[in-house]
Amino acid sequence: MKKTAMYPGSFDPITLGHLDLIRRARRMFERVIVAVVANPQKEPLFSAEERVALCRAAIRGLSGVEVVSFDGLLVNYLRRRKCRILLRGLRFVSDLEYELQMALTNRQLYPEVETVFLLPDERYANISSTLVKEVARLGGDISRFVPGPAAAALRRKIPA
Ligand code: PNS
Repeated sequence: MKKTAMYPGSFDPITLGHLDLIRRARRMFERVIVAVVANPQKEPLFSAEERVALCRAAIRGLSGVEVVSFDGLLVNYLRRRKCRILLRGLRFVSDLEYELQMALTNRQLYPEVETVFLLPDERYANISSTLVKEVARLGGDISRFVPGPAAAALRRKIPA
């Protein structure tokens, strides 16, 4: 088994689902690099620095986990870090189309890379950063969906 796996994403913000996946990944890999994309396709609510800081706050106390941000093509960053394992979470069948497209494209760009899909705990399968932001905007309680620092940051960014 390879030692290091990279878990890329927008993390806008990190959720308890992401955190669950990181913990699961740590049972399989010695090191997990949480790679926050600096310029995601969707306009993010939080800056790259804020998203990295919220990820770091969430993984505090977890050994073997590193949080970084990257720009440009993911495969280039994987190559630079000499990492050949890419982690993604799968929640529903609806995730599959996009994930397969990305995994196969990444494989064509970097044939040595393997994408590994992990399932989150079912308690978190419904959570997405997008939905959490919507709930926050509409004044709902988001504390059960995101780690404490992310909940506080959302409340600051989206006052009630
Ligand atoms: O959390 P997300 O938004 O679903 O993560 C998507 C992410 C960041 C993994 C994807 O958009 C990505 O890899 N972006 C970096 C640019 C890139 O390499 N694009 C081609 C992907 S096949």
